[in-house]
Amino acid sequence: MNPLVRPRRLRANPAIRRLVAETRLHPAELILPLFVREGIGEPRGISSMPGVQQHTIDSLRRAASTAAAAGIGGVMLFGVPETRDARGSGADDPEGILNAATRAVVAEVGDALVVQTDLCLDEFTDHGHCGVLRGTAGDGDDPVEVDNDGTLERYRSMALAQAEAGSAVLGLSGMMDGQVAAVREALDAAGRTGTAILAYSAKYASAFYGPFREAVDSQLSGDRRSYQQDPANRREGLREARLDLAEGADVVMVKPAMSYLDVLADVSADSPVPVWAYQVSGEAAMIEAAAANGWIDRRSAIQESLIGIKRAGADAVLSYFAVEVAGWLR
Ligand code: PBG
Repeated sequence: MNPLVRPRRLRANPAIRRLVAETRLHPAELILPLFVREGIGEPRGISSMPGVQQHTIDSLRRAASTAAAAGIGGVMLFGVPETRDARGSGADDPEGILNAATRAVVAEVGDALVVQTDLCLDEFTDHGHCGVLRGTAGDGDDPVEVDNDGTLERYRSMALAQAEAGSAVLGLSGMMDGQVAAVREALDAAGRTGTAILAYSAKYASAFYGPFREAVDSQLSGDRRSYQQDPANRREGLREARLDLAEGADVVMVKPAMSYLDVLADVSADSPVPVWAYQVSGEAAMIEAAAANGWIDRRSAIQESLIGIKRAGADAVLSYFAVEVAGWLR
């Protein structure tokens, strides 16, 4: 019996494959995460993230203008301060590294791409948690407790400092309950009605953040399981996204991407606002390490990983490969 139905007709040559592709990558839908470190004279490599650097403000400006020239959609800035304290004072200090760097990048690129900032305390606290701690936690065997509502006060202040510095989109990555509503309220009360909120809605407590911890010189001991989500939970990812939408999120995100494509598909099917995904440091590191060993083809693996994330429902993707991929797409 000859087959009656022959799907291979639409796969016969590159021209027909190109015509029937359901998903494609476009530079405008890629966002590059960038790190800026206080107190260094030269950019520094990050051993677990080949090709990624901790920038000086100067090299950060150059990286941002390269990103703009590549035509990508935006950058997401992370700051690495020289000194830290329990409440993360550097985060809302107008002269703090992230805020100073934001001003410099905005002055450099203008409207050529969307300049966004990470709104979280973990890079700025001496204990490395995403919020302030309750009591004298951290001593002996006392379990640390991150104070949700006390942290919201810090986030409100950070939001104002970041908006003032020129950030167009605040990336709320701390997973505190009520953080979107708190930040929206603070921004609006200050007349910052035009500053957008990207909610890292479904953010899982993931081993794939490993290299990022090196990138930001993380002080964390222990884990973030009392605030980031349990990898076992799918339904809860959608619940978190719906809560953030109700609180006024302009964009919602699922993170990491590759191990959470089901959650991404759920959120994408449900969301009236754009849905983004973050291809995190460990996802990039796996590709780099396997490619360096000659075990996979680097370029095809990167393209396939990003296509998969888009196919699952992401409208845009944060990826350390953003500028390189934009170059391939030219
Ligand atoms: C928190 C934050 C993290 C990442 C982005 N924002 C680290 C964490 O939650 O532990 C991870 C990104 C990556 O791994 O690439 N500010």
